[in-house]
Amino acid sequence: MLSGKIALVTGGGSGIGRAVCRLLARDGARVVATDMDGGAAQETINMLKGKAHCVLLKHRDDHLSLKMDVTDKTSVESAISAAIDKYKAPPSLITNAAGIIRDNFMLQMDEKSFMEVLDVNLKGTYLVTQVATMALAEHDASSGSIVNISSISGKLGTIGQSNYSASKAGVIGFTKSTAMELASMGVRVNCVLPGFTQTAMVGGVPDKVVKLILKMTPLKRMAQPEEIAEVVAFLLSDKSSFMTGASVEVTGGLGM
Ligand SMILES: NC(=O)c1ccc[n+]([C@@H]2O[C@H](COP(=O)([O-])OP(=O)(O)OC[C@H]3O[C@@H](n4cnc5c(N)ncnc54)[C@H](O)[C@@H]3O)[C@@H](O)[C@H]2O)c1
Repeated sequence: MLSGKIALVTGGGSGIGRAVCRLLARDGARVVATDMDGGAAQETINMLKGKAHCVLLKHRDDHLSLKMDVTDKTSVESAISAAIDKYKAPPSLITNAAGIIRDNFMLQMDEKSFMEVLDVNLKGTYLVTQVATMALAEHDASSGSIVNISSISGKLGTIGQSNYSASKAGVIGFTKSTAMELASMGVRVNCVLPGFTQTAMVGGVPDKVVKLILKMTPLKRMAQPEEIAEVVAFLLSDKSSFMTGASVEVTGGLGM
């Protein structure tokens, strides 16, 4: 389905990003797992090369891990250059999954916590999209697909997440604007709005909040990261060839 395509994933060292790497490898892509935690990105690549996956992988020796901080343009440019050096072509499939939370009630939230979340979740998405798309243009690529991970919090808001909700609402707007701008280049841009998903990010959420969210979720459970990654893989693939600018909710029914 994605045979031989080069796919770069941010936040590829954990949770949803790691699951995206696994499914893209399953579908035949050459995967560039990037993360601020370079060791975690390498672990993801080791998993792709592991025995259980070998039979499924056509390009198992072609995967790459890179340390990349999405908030730092130089770091993003170096990572895209390193991918081009290895494959002699830029990645045409991009998943922006790097993200952080710094939860607090708005009245108690300090400026640093507010800005850090915007920096990683929103500015990071912009920087990676811009640098990756410029590389595609420089190599006269005729198509590409970008998937940004927003959140259902960006649509509904969440108590204690004014910074996070604002960043994820920003990602939805960014996705729509860039979809319009990049369509003429053959680049599609969509975003996914996950609901509550079992990853390290939600590990610190208090039990009573987990219970409350599950109560509001018609399917009455959290998502597994792979359930989000399947939708990302679909949006990256040609199976979604007439989709751009879309915001796809994967929430177990929360917020419909
Ligand atoms: N888990 C959920 O319930 C949930 C719900 C909705 C949306 N999301 C979004 O999904 C995405 C993935 O989150 P997750 O749940 O897998 O979390 P996670 O904490 O498991 O993974 C996030 C990854 O991003 C990396 N990262 C953080 N800052 C970075 C930076 N500056 N540069 C590069 N990498 C950086 C981390 O090292 C980590 O590996 C995030 O954008 C998150 O906001 C998660």
